[in-house]
Amino acid sequence: MEQEAVRALNRDIVTCTRCRLSRDRINAVPGEGPVPSGLLFIGEAPGRNEDLTGRPFVGRAGAVLEELLSSIGLERCSVFITSIIKCRPPGNRIPRKDEIAACAGYLGRQIDLLSPEIIVPMGRLASEQVFSHFGIPHGSLGSIHGTVFHSSTPHRQIVIIPVYHPAAVTHNPLLKGAVFEDFRVIGKQLQKKERSGRNNPGSED
Ligand code: URA
Repeated sequence: MEQEAVRALNRDIVTCTRCRLSRDRINAVPGEGPVPSGLLFIGEAPGRNEDLTGRPFVGRAGAVLEELLSSIGLERCSVFITSIIKCRPPGNRIPRKDEIAACAGYLGRQIDLLSPEIIVPMGRLASEQVFSHFGIPHGSLGSIHGTVFHSSTPHRQIVIIPVYHPAAVTHNPLLKGAVFEDFRVIGKQLQKKERSGRNNPGSED
């Protein structure tokens, strides 16, 4: 049932004309991964390779994301990957406030349908958007990255772990250690959930 709803949502996204970004896109990039999905990774906006292919994180940032996932024993096909903005901003400029707002409903529907246990916003804009969605005050990303926040959806308790954006590593190699450390926190949280699942068969946390 969720699969059909996600297909309908993707159709809405690829035909969307809610903001100026729809005029220049080759492809909108709804995101990809299992439905439902325990883990939802949310980036900022598609770049050139994503616009060309319609798939999220297939360029250099995608290679770093795959390396980060692999460092905690995950393959990209086991998690859902999307971004707050579904169309590429021209020249890869930073998404504008009204563009983020125009796309916010799509991200909200994805969160509802995928019903993730862990949400990982990557980078400042994604982190601000996810915190605003859940009504959590946002500090600077420098002070909150790698921290575990608790919230809930109508379906379940969830954990939000903001991390630096994988592209940050390609721009600033000094951040590499910090990003891997952020992902270690995600790995620990997954182990915790696995252990509590084993101790409480039937429990969802
Ligand atoms: N960076 C993002 O935030 N999203 C993508 O899809 C690709 C790069």
